[in-house]
Amino acid sequence: MIVKELLTAVTGAMTTGTASRGTEVEGWFVMVKDTQGRFQSNQLWGDGWGWSLFIADQPDSSVTTNYKTECIGCHIPARKYDWIYLNGYRVLETTK
Ligand code: HEC
Repeated sequence: MIVKELLTAVTGAMTTGTASRGTEVEGWFVMVKDTQGRFQSNQLWGDGWGWSLFIADQPDSSVTTNYKTECIGCHIPARKYDWIYLNGYRVLETTK
């Protein structure tokens, strides 16, 4: 399972230069690996993963209804790495 936490951010001048830092949690993008295609009739599952976005103030249910229209289009550049942007995780990239 991979969780991408979304934070609001503030940017300002510091002694090191312009710096940004996360503040409030806004939500989470979640991907759950599914190598067996277990939920083929569910529109949140496919291409080897379950795909969902959760908003922080309503964490009990996903706001995503269809990963094909809401997720995978943006992940096409990462298709050869199983849809994950591995360049953000150098350790995983070198073991691939
Ligand atoms: C507007 C384009 C866009 C959409 C829509 C999008 N993603 Fe992503 N996603 C990205 C990009 C670019 C990254 C890597 C850079 C980053 O994290 O900002 C990423 C990273 C991720 C990550 C962290 C793992 C990784 O590949 O780095 C997860 C998990 C994720 N997305 C899940 C989802 C899910 C689930 C959906 C649909 C609900 C979704 N994304 C929709 C562009 C998108």
